[in-house]
Amino acid sequence: MHRRTFLAGLASLASAPAVAQMKMDDMDNMPGMDMGDHMGHDMGAPSGKTVTLPEGEALRELPRLVNESRTPGLFKARLSAEPATLRFAEGLDTPALGYNGMSPGPLIEAVEGDRVEITFANGIPNEASTIHWHGMPVPADQDGNPMDPVASGAEKTYGFDLPEGSAASYWYHPHPHGKTAEQVYRGLAGVFLVRPKADPVPAAYGDTVLVFTDLRLAADGTMPDNTMIDLMNGRVGDHVLVNGQKNPRLEVPFGTKRRFRLYNVTNARFLRLAFDGAPMTIIGTDGGLLEAPVAADDILLSPAERLELIVSFEKPGPVTLYTLDYDRGWMGAGRPADAGLTLLTVNVSETPAEQVPPLPDTLRPMAQLGAPLVNRRFVFTETMAMNATGMEMGFLINGTAFDMSRVDVVSKAGQVELWEVVNQADMDHPFHVHGTQFQVVEHERDGKKSAPAYRAWKDTVNVARGETVRLLLRQDRPGPRMYHCHILEHEQLGMMGIVDVQA
Ligand code: C2O
Ligand code: CU
Ligand code: CU
Repeated sequence: MHRRTFLAGLASLASAPAVAQMKMDDMDNMPGMDMGDHMGHDMGAPSGKTVTLPEGEALRELPRLVNESRTPGLFKARLSAEPATLRFAEGLDTPALGYNGMSPGPLIEAVEGDRVEITFANGIPNEASTIHWHGMPVPADQDGNPMDPVASGAEKTYGFDLPEGSAASYWYHPHPHGKTAEQVYRGLAGVFLVRPKADPVPAAYGDTVLVFTDLRLAADGTMPDNTMIDLMNGRVGDHVLVNGQKNPRLEVPFGTKRRFRLYNVTNARFLRLAFDGAPMTIIGTDGGLLEAPVAADDILLSPAERLELIVSFEKPGPVTLYTLDYDRGWMGAGRPADAGLTLLTVNVSETPAEQVPPLPDTLRPMAQLGAPLVNRRFVFTETMAMNATGMEMGFLINGTAFDMSRVDVVSKAGQVELWEVVNQADMDHPFHVHGTQFQVVEHERDGKKSAPAYRAWKDTVNVARGETVRLLLRQDRPGPRMYHCHILEHEQLGMMGIVDVQA
């Protein structure tokens, strides 16, 4: 729907009887309504009430999940989702959810060709959960779909083999029906690195994982529930954290070339980023390395996307990783400040780094998918409707909201398809498909077509408002797969479907 209609709809709500049933908290957040004293409170955006977090601590490395197996080629471990008390600010306890007590969860690291067996224990009181292996080529029934919930108190062992060529920066998070957004913003997300047997990137560049999460803290240290504004736009917090820390610090000698893996695991925060004073080269995306390195002035990381970079720290002094403005479309009040956040500070010392080998000109060959046998079209729209308990936003694909018992698309394993994803809505929607990696072939906006700057394997692509993205995709394993907007509140409000891949 269009913003004008949307706002007119909201204005007419003022006289609708159902309005009385909306919580006052939500009312505070309604755009275009005169709420007197209530206006301006609880907008879910940075405000005077924001708790101050410590900055400048040494960047922590994410703890690794320990492999309990002695058998070569087998990675075996336990992961439990459970309530955890975290400490972000001095003297404040934050009740949250963690994997093995941590948020972000422990980093899982395996190698191409490995067998993975992870026993998941759901210790979340009264809520089902699952573990979804975002971007990974795992069988459909091992992929933590909402159709396969693990009840509170129950366990499930997920097992899968990592094929050759699958090395990439994946991640894991819950995917239970109706609870994904909340379980993720409460702390459940972690990194899953699959390493190649031989890595073309020099080991001397290191390999530093930077996981971005988005925290909103109330004055008492708790994480407030989602407001109406959050449901519309997706939850954007007050603090973007890196590996759980606010603006941590990294020390490097000058002349250092460092490999970074950037992960956006926020519910809904778009991150347009640059290093101030250090050139970036993109070497990989969601699905692993590119064919060749590509220089970049700035990068856009929409929710769920990942990028691998080489950053050259060429002169001594501080360098910051900071955010630039990006308008992803915002409904109602409280548009967060996108630009000018410092996410990481790198102190480049006077001591010169040791000589390191240059980055190779080519990284790996990348197969092309060939001509599609089937064309499909997915159209995103936004709606608003009244029901008995208040206003309901709907986020739809091809006019319908997600229904777990409905198959939306039937496809065939091994068949190349062209998916055309059309965003007719007022916000950007990052589109994600489970179980495979795809290649974007074209963007179209206002009748203008353009090819992506480089060929890449992706599992999530931002589809800007008014834009059409065309991608080639092939699912190699049978079973039901989800496709959805990775603004998790939108996924929860209906912007998801099921493709059933048949053998
Ligand atoms: Cu991160 Cu359904 O996915
Ligand atoms: Cu996924
Ligand atoms: Cu969306």
